[in-house]
Amino acid sequence: MTRKKNFEKQLYSDEDGLRFATPWPVAAYRAKRLKCSSLADISCGIGGQTVYFARQCEIVYAIEISPTKLELAKKNCKLFGLDNVEFICGDALSQDVIDQIPEVDIVFSDPARAAAEKERDIDNLTPHIPNVLAAYCGKTSNFAFEAPPQLPPERIPFDCELEYLSLNGELNRLDLYFGKLKTCSRSAMALPGAVKLYPKSESLKETDMNSTSKPGKYLYEPDPAVIKAELLPELVAEMHNQNVELFKIDDKRLMLTSNNAVEHPMIKNTYRIVFNAEFIPENINKELKKRGYGKVLLRTEVDPAKYWDIRNRLERNLKGDRKVNLFSKGITSYICEKI
Ligand SMILES: C[S@@+](CC[C@H](N)C(=O)[O-])C[C@H]1O[C@@H](n2cnc3c(N)ncnc32)[C@H](O)[C@@H]1O
Repeated sequence: MTRKKNFEKQLYSDEDGLRFATPWPVAAYRAKRLKCSSLADISCGIGGQTVYFARQCEIVYAIEISPTKLELAKKNCKLFGLDNVEFICGDALSQDVIDQIPEVDIVFSDPARAAAEKERDIDNLTPHIPNVLAAYCGKTSNFAFEAPPQLPPERIPFDCELEYLSLNGELNRLDLYFGKLKTCSRSAMALPGAVKLYPKSESLKETDMNSTSKPGKYLYEPDPAVIKAELLPELVAEMHNQNVELFKIDDKRLMLTSNNAVEHPMIKNTYRIVFNAEFIPENINKELKKRGYGKVLLRTEVDPAKYWDIRNRLERNLKGDRKVNLFSKGITSYICEKI
């Protein structure tokens, strides 16, 4: 038995079951959203998600192609004191398995994916999403899938809601909701607080945000689920009275800025700009020494081969634990304290 902080109880697992099992705050949230009478979890693994479905639904059908994993899912359901799960071992796409599933409210699948891929591809999930939709269309029209969260909206070719989930400020999951489960085109969900953002108007675009190349006194790092769901304009719109502007460091790093400190649950980190300077490590080091800072977190892209040389030049003879974060845009560096 192995225990990881992401699980409420020590789940029974084989070598890789826990690695693919859903962290419990995500599983619990998802089960609440999908609460219904009857649900089929058609690629259940060791049952990390199944146990939470079984807490919310009257009956759950748990299907798994691996007999070992299905046995572990049974043990995990028992561990949670659940007796409303029917277990079926087999290929969820086989006629034999499909015939064993009655009409249900919802079919859910968290498909298997390659451990490592250069670029995530929705076509590389097993069972394949279009095949599941076709195989189970006689059982329900309400489907939910888990997909790799690295996939941007334009690479999901289905008419569904794309819900990007973060857990403790890190991008964690992407859920796709079909049929009556779809409530909007894209959404961002920050867990464990369960803060949701969705488009109030489908027409808001990045170009609708005021953008600046000179930041105000504060920099904000949005929750990564907001960035992935392409909902930054919505976040700015929610903060509209506060003169928040987009401060685009580069295509990968989109930050917000304002002159007054603004709070929003979809802001992951807030920084106060202490000073800005051209990126000359010795000059920045002098300024940091004067101001009593001891450590520099480099939040800018540097050649990995030069990383330690730059860090050492920035931190030479600094003392103490007071930290700054260093962001750069063009030739200017913004030296910030996290607040
Ligand atoms: C990502 S894991 C599921 C993890 C699970 N949701 C959890 O939280 O523990 C995907 C599982 O799908 C199973 N699987 C893959 N293809 C399948 C198929 N055609 N039928 C049934 N199960 C399948 C794999 O064996 C694997 O255990």
